[in-house]
Amino acid sequence: MFTSRILFSFLAIGAVSVAASPAPIIAKRADVSDILTVVSTLNSTTATILPQIDALVASNSANEDSITPLITDLASALGTATTSLASLQGADTSTGGSADDVAAAIAPVVAGIATSLSGLETAVPTLTSLLSGLGLDTSLNQVLSGLETLLAGVLNLVATLLVDVAGLLRSLAFGLTLASLGL
Ligand SMILES: *[C@@H]1O[C@H](CO)[C@@H](O)[C@H](O)[C@H]1NC(C)=O
Repeated sequence: MFTSRILFSFLAIGAVSVAASPAPIIAKRADVSDILTVVSTLNSTTATILPQIDALVASNSANEDSITPLITDLASALGTATTSLASLQGADTSTGGSADDVAAAIAPVVAGIATSLSGLETAVPTLTSLLSGLGLDTSLNQVLSGLETLLAGVLNLVATLLVDVAGLLRSLAFGLTLASLGL
């Protein structure tokens, strides 16, 4: 009896809040700020993964087994960003930020990934084939391509910010990423 009264109250409150929230009349069109949000989410995720890679290197415990789950997480984070960018096709890119903002946001993410992975080269001699097997270059390149599709020309801007990272990308054998960036 008491329980059913509580349940009834919940149902009543639920009904009131549904009635009180008006249906959106005009959906806000996606814009550059939504692209920046995707990059920021990717940044937050890589910021939790890359320090774990660095820590394995620092403690001399990096090996194929210990890094594989982290590389897999990284590929998955990149995949999530690609999916989110694909859902923004048709975004109004004349507002909410600029291509420069997007380039400035994504370049440090790419640089961070390249730097942490390069730190593994000594400990994991099979690194390039491991990365290739886990599709990391492909995943990273898909994010960059997704950005270029939404904001034509943005990769030229990203490339100018990553000139110093090109050598790392080359030693990681990230050929697709390098080609997209023209580096
Ligand atoms: C990425 O994360 C770092 C801290 O982890 C932060 O300083 C930086 O502003 C973030 N960049 C973006 C684009 O969110």
